[in-house]
Amino acid sequence: PLKLGIMASGSGSNFEAIAQAIANHDLLAQLQVMVYNNPTAKAAERADRLGIPKVLLNHREFSSREVLDAAIVDVMRDHQVDWIIMAGWMRVVTNVLIEAFPRRILNIHPSLLPSFPGANAIERTLAAGVKITGCTVHIVELEVDSGPILMQAAVPVLPDDTLETLHQRIQSQEHRIFPRAIALAAVQFGD
Ligand code: GAR
Repeated sequence: PLKLGIMASGSGSNFEAIAQAIANHDLLAQLQVMVYNNPTAKAAERADRLGIPKVLLNHREFSSREVLDAAIVDVMRDHQVDWIIMAGWMRVVTNVLIEAFPRRILNIHPSLLPSFPGANAIERTLAAGVKITGCTVHIVELEVDSGPILMQAAVPVLPDDTLETLHQRIQSQEHRIFPRAIALAAVQFGD
């Protein structure tokens, strides 16, 4: 099985979808640990309920992005992680993390990259008036939301969409493709 380490900042619904895919035997993997940076993240409650070890690394307590990333590397190594899954991780990562896990870090982003990289992607999607958006799973490289694309799903933008309704429609596709993209990454980039 693939040994996964999750990084989450918020609700953790993608984390739970991955856990569910593993429980259903749709993904041959195991969740070693969940790292989160935000003390109030709902993802922490999910980890407890799912019985997965969780480690809080509050970015406010670290002197730089690099020092935070070094702590993440330590936790992932301590838990024998082979693949890092950024499931709603809202911090920019540095070469300290990327060089420790080359081509072994996956991210999900709520747009059809390379459109709308960066923060507030869904707000900017709505503001731009595009009619089709979606989500992207890609291998993490240094430039934010760049790196080889593994899988995408398209989602319509409906006339009455708000941030919440569109995010919900995108997230149901995220939950579907993220487990599949992890399996694909292991085939395409695993050795
Ligand atoms: C997801 O929709 C993900 O695409 C987005 O945050 C959400 C996390 O949801 N990620 C980013 O915006 C990355 N910059 P979750 O915590 O319920 O999985």
